[in-house]
Amino acid sequence: MKKLGIYIHIPFCTKKCDYCDFYSVKWMETLEDKYIKSAINELTSYSELKNKYLVDTIFLGGGTPSILKTDNLEKLINSVKSIFTVTEDAEITLEANPNTLNKYNLNEYKKMGINRLSIGIQSLDDTILKNIGRIHNSKEALGAIEKAKEEVFTNINADVMFNIPGQTIESIENTILRLIEKGIKHISYYSLKLEEGTPMYILERDNKITMPKEELEREMYYAGRDIMEKHGLVQYEISNFAVTGFECRHNLKYWNQEEYIGIGPSAHSFFNAVRYNNPSDLKEYIQGALRGNFQRNIQESLTEESLIFEYIMLRLRLNEGLKFTDFKKKFSIDFFEKYKKEIEYLTKNHLIVSTSEGIKLTQKGMDISNYVFIQFME
Ligand SMILES: C[S@@+](CC[C@H](N)C(=O)[O-])C[C@H]1O[C@@H](n2cnc3c(N)ncnc32)[C@H](O)[C@@H]1O
Ligand code: SF4
Repeated sequence: MKKLGIYIHIPFCTKKCDYCDFYSVKWMETLEDKYIKSAINELTSYSELKNKYLVDTIFLGGGTPSILKTDNLEKLINSVKSIFTVTEDAEITLEANPNTLNKYNLNEYKKMGINRLSIGIQSLDDTILKNIGRIHNSKEALGAIEKAKEEVFTNINADVMFNIPGQTIESIENTILRLIEKGIKHISYYSLKLEEGTPMYILERDNKITMPKEELEREMYYAGRDIMEKHGLVQYEISNFAVTGFECRHNLKYWNQEEYIGIGPSAHSFFNAVRYNNPSDLKEYIQGALRGNFQRNIQESLTEESLIFEYIMLRLRLNEGLKFTDFKKKFSIDFFEKYKKEIEYLTKNHLIVSTSEGIKLTQKGMDISNYVFIQFME
C-alpha cells in the first residue's frame, strides 16, 4: 500500500490579518455547516483510494481550523477515518489562532485524535502584533501554549514571522527564546512577503510603511536561525526548525515529492504525478460539492524528467540534502552515475558537498541555489 497525506483547507477567519492572502472568508455558522457537508462529499469522491493507500498524515490548515465547532471538526476527522484507511500512528495537525484555544476545545481535539497543533504566534511583541493586524496579544499567545500543554499536547509548532516593518533583531530573538522556554519544539520561521492587494501592500505602496532593507532581512533570518540552532531546534528546511523527532511529517511530504490530496477551496494536490488545485471560491465550491461536482485546475502533469528535476530541487532545499539511495528507490536511477560531471563541477566550486551517501548545498550554494538547480536541468 502506498502512503497518502490529506490536507483539508478550512476557509474561515474571524478577521483577515493585514498581510495575508491565503484564501479565507469571514466565518458564519450557516456557511460552516454547509462547508463541512461539502468537504465530506469531496473526501467521499476519493473513496476508491481506500484499498490502495494508507493515510499517514492529515493536516487541517487554513484559514483558521480552530474556529470550527468541535462537533463539525469531529465529523470531518471521523469521515476521513471511515472513507480511508488511516494508520494508527497518523500525524493529525490542526492550525490554530491563539485566541480560539480553550480548555474545552483542546480537550475535544485530543479526544478526536489531533496530536499536533500549529499555533499562529507570529511575534510576542504587542506593537508588532498590532501593526500586522493580528487579533491576539502576546499574553494570549503564551496563554494558548500553556493551555495546550495542560491538555498534554507536546507536539506544538509556533509560526513566527520576521521582516516586519519596525521589527528589531532583539524583538525576534526575544520572541524565539520565550517560545523555546515555553517548551515549543517546532518553529516555522517565515519572512513577511507583501502580497498584492493586502492592506500592508497598499500601505507600503503609498509610502506609509517601509519594509526592512534586504540586508536587514537576511540578518533577521540568520539571527533567528542561530538562536534556534543554539537551543536545539535544528533547521530541516529553509523555514522550518525542530527538535529532532518533531519534524512535521505532513510538510515533509511536500519536500519529498510524496502524494497528498487537498480538500476544500484553494487546496492543492499532488497525485499520480499531477499537480492540481481547487478554485478559491467557497460559494462555488459548496454549490458544486453538494451536487457532487468538483472543479479542479490542472497545473502540471509531470513527466519523468520533470519529476526528477523537481525532486532534486526539493531535496536540495532540505538541510539533509539528496540521498543517493532514496533517489535510486524512487526513480531506479543511479544519481552519481547520471550526474557525475555536474557533481564534480559544483563540488569544485564549493556549491555542494558530496559524500558517498549523497549531496547537499553549502552556505554559498544556498545563497545561489537557483544556479545550482539549473546545472541539473536536462
Ligand atoms: C495560513 S496561516 C494559518 C495559521 C492561522 N490562521 C494563524 O494565522 O494563526 C499560516 C501562516 O502563514 C504565515 N503567513 C501568512 N501570510 C504570510 C505572508 N504574507 N508572508 C509570510 N508569512 C505569511 C503566518 O505565519 C501564518 O501563521
Ligand atoms: S494569517 Fe491566519 S488568521 Fe490571519 S488572515 Fe491569514 S489565515 Fe486568517
